[in-house]
Amino acid sequence: MLTPFPLGRPARMAVMASGRGTNLQALLEAFPPGNPWGEVVLVLSDNPGAYALERARGRGVEAVALPWQGRRAFEGEALALLGERRIDLVLLAGFMRLLSPSFVEAWYGRLLNLHPSLLPDYPGLHVHQRVLAAGERETGSTVHFVDQGMDTGPIVLQGRVPVLPGDTPETLERRVLFLEHRLYPRAVRLVLLGLAFPPGEALLTLLGPAWPHFQRLSPREKPLHLRALALLRLWGQEGLVPAALLGEAGAWGRGAFLTAHLLAEDHPALRRELAELPEEVRLRAEEALRRVESPS
Ligand code: GAR
Repeated sequence: MLTPFPLGRPARMAVMASGRGTNLQALLEAFPPGNPWGEVVLVLSDNPGAYALERARGRGVEAVALPWQGRRAFEGEALALLGERRIDLVLLAGFMRLLSPSFVEAWYGRLLNLHPSLLPDYPGLHVHQRVLAAGERETGSTVHFVDQGMDTGPIVLQGRVPVLPGDTPETLERRVLFLEHRLYPRAVRLVLLGLAFPPGEALLTLLGPAWPHFQRLSPREKPLHLRALALLRLWGQEGLVPAALLGEAGAWGRGAFLTAHLLAEDHPALRRELAELPEEVRLRAEEALRRVESPS
């Protein structure tokens, strides 16, 4: 049985990558040895030629190639290694294989993926070409819990970038990558703090009469609401959760939603509103923001 986040100790993380590994690099830098949040202790690849493996070795992190000889063989070895290394959280970063339902089920809530679009739009491959062909004005990236579908699991965090006139798939890819290198470590910190989690049975009980309201939210709205209710719980205001989701929980509710927004993206207008809330709410909000924003 896997213990829930927060763990109360630094997390042991594994990254799975198939290619060049620029996101792996960002994760290695965000979670180095001795980091109080946790550290990347294992890198796995289905591709022995992946530059990601070099990046890991260059930083003294264990890097293992499991050359692809079918899903069953790969997953059997990967599951054994994850167990032996006592891994708490697995991060897919440019891992280009689909994992089986049994792998995903065993790691549900502990397995994150990064996808270069604003999911649920543009799942799958060749995202930047498709975004350009559709004439989108905006794109971005999504960190989500992996479920049994392709790029369908509950969203942890999204970031946005504009699509500009004259963009090519390459310019767009560069812009999205720059965003991802900040987005993924931030999403991991939210998960480690227990501020992002896949909705489950316990949530139904907690939300009570507000459950139908939550269910009607879009996949992109849900993570904000989950962060807000997790904050209320963290602040000892669990009883206010159903009212907060209905917008009826006063200063604590406003503080939770403002903080939940700011945890995803800074916004001067929201910071100002937060500063005007009663001191007991403001101090808790500032503490939560400081924790996620400080690099260690
Ligand atoms: C990233 O843009 C990531 O979002 C994408 O692959 C790239 C990996 O780059 N992932 C997917 O498309 C998964 N479906 P990197 O190897 O430089 O980190």
